[in-house]
Amino acid sequence: MENKRLWGGRFDRKPAQAAEAFSNSLDVDRRLAEYDVVGSIAHAKMLEHAGLLNGTESKKIVVGLSEIKTELEKGTFVFEPSDEDIHTAVERRLYEKIGDSAGKLHTGRSRNDQIVLDERLYVRDLINRLDIKIKTLQKALLVWAKEYPDLVMPAFTHLQHSQPILFSHWVLAYLEMFQRDQDRLSDALVRVNVAPLGAGAGAGSSLPLKPEYTAKLLGFPKIFTNSLDAVSDRDFLVEVLADLALVSVHLSRICEEMVLWSSAEFNYLDISAEYCTGSSALPQKKNPDIPELIRGKTGLVFGGLISLLTTLKGLPLSYNRDLQEDKAPFFSAADTVLDSLEILASVILKTKVNIGAVEKSAETGYLDAFDLAEFLVKKNVPFREAHRIVGAVVKYAAAQKKKLSELSLAQLKEFSKLFDRKVADVLSAKNSVRNRKTAGSTNPALVALQLQKWAKLLKE
Ligand code: ARG
Repeated sequence: MENKRLWGGRFDRKPAQAAEAFSNSLDVDRRLAEYDVVGSIAHAKMLEHAGLLNGTESKKIVVGLSEIKTELEKGTFVFEPSDEDIHTAVERRLYEKIGDSAGKLHTGRSRNDQIVLDERLYVRDLINRLDIKIKTLQKALLVWAKEYPDLVMPAFTHLQHSQPILFSHWVLAYLEMFQRDQDRLSDALVRVNVAPLGAGAGAGSSLPLKPEYTAKLLGFPKIFTNSLDAVSDRDFLVEVLADLALVSVHLSRICEEMVLWSSAEFNYLDISAEYCTGSSALPQKKNPDIPELIRGKTGLVFGGLISLLTTLKGLPLSYNRDLQEDKAPFFSAADTVLDSLEILASVILKTKVNIGAVEKSAETGYLDAFDLAEFLVKKNVPFREAHRIVGAVVKYAAAQKKKLSELSLAQLKEFSKLFDRKVADVLSAKNSVRNRKTAGSTNPALVALQLQKWAKLLKE
C-alpha cells in the first residue's frame, strides 16, 4: 500500500512532510495513551458482546492491547515518526502484534468519539489528583493555623490596617477558598462522566453497538444522548479549566500575601531559604521566588482558558480538527496547577511566622477604633455619631503619638461623657479579637471550633 495511514485508501499520494508535521499531535496527546488503550479494551469487549467480534477475535485484540498497556507503563513502547496521534500509534502497534485482526477494533468507532472518551477518562483522573493536592495544601495551611492559634495580626482593607484578627482566622479564609475549588471540581465531574463511545464520526452507526455496555465497563454512569453533541462537546474541559483558573486566583492571592509579608517592610514571614533564591547582582538578597512564580504562572492558566474558549467559538458541528488544539492549553494549565498546589504546601510547612513583628504590627494603626465606636453604640449612641466621635479621638491620639489604650479616661471623656472605666476591656488588639461575637468572625472560641472542624474534615 502506497499510503499506509489509517485513512490511506482514498489517497493517491502521501501527505506533504510539512502537512504531516503540522498536524501531528503525538507530543501532546501521548499522555492519553493509557486511557486510549483502556477505552479500546472496553470497546473490543462491547463489540464481542454485540456480536460484532467473535470470542477469538476479541480475545486477541484485548491481549494485544493489554501488552501495549504494559509497554506503555514500562516505557518500552516505541513511538514511530509516522504515528499521527496516540490513536494511530496504538493501532499501529496492535497490527504489529496481532496482524490483520487489529483491523476489526475500529468497528463502529471513529477517532472523533475515541478522542473525547480519552479526554473524559483523563479529566476524571485529573479531578481525583487535584482533590488530593488541594487537600495536601489545606493540611499544610491547617498545620500553620494550629502552630499560631492565638497570634493576633491586623486585617487589611485597601492594604491599610483595619481590625485585629487571629492569624489562624486569616489562614482559615484560604481553607474556605480551596474547599470551594474542590467542590466546584466535584460538581463538574457529573458532566465529565458521560460516555461518548457509540457516537462514531458524529452521526452514530448502522451496527448494533451497545454504548451502555462500554459505559458500564468504564464506570460512566451516563451515556451521551446526541451523537453530534457527543463528538463536539468540550464544555467539560472549559468548565474544569475555569475551575483551575479559580484555583490559580486563590493560589496567586495567598502567594501575593506571602511575597508582601516576607518583605522587610512587613517582616511577618520568614520563608525557608530552601524555597528562596539569591540575586546574581545583589549579595544581600533572599527572594521569595516560589510564591512569585506561582503568582506568575496564573497567566498561563487564564491564557489556557481563553485559548480553549476561542478554539470553540464559532465552530460548526460536529467534529473539526480545530478541536485537537483543546489539549495543549488544558494540559499545561492542569500541570501548572498541580505543581503549584504541591510546592506551595511544602513552602508553607517551611515558613515561619515572626510572632514579634506580627504582634507589634497589630498594636499599631488604631485597629481597635471600631471597638471603641461599638462601645458607644452599646450605650445607645447612633453608629454615625459614634463613628464621628471616635474619628476625633483617633485624630487626637495620633497627634499625641499615643495608642487609644494609652489615653486616660479623662481625656476620652472630653469626647463623650459615655466613656467609662470599662473602655479598657474593649481596647487593644487582643481584647478586640476576644470581644467579637458574630458567627464566622475571628472570635477565638469560634476559630477554635473551625480548626476542629477542618482537622476532622481533612483527616484521611
Ligand atoms: N488528534 C485528533 C484530536 O485530537 C483526534 C481525532 C482526529 N479525528 C479526525 N477526524 N482527524 O482531535
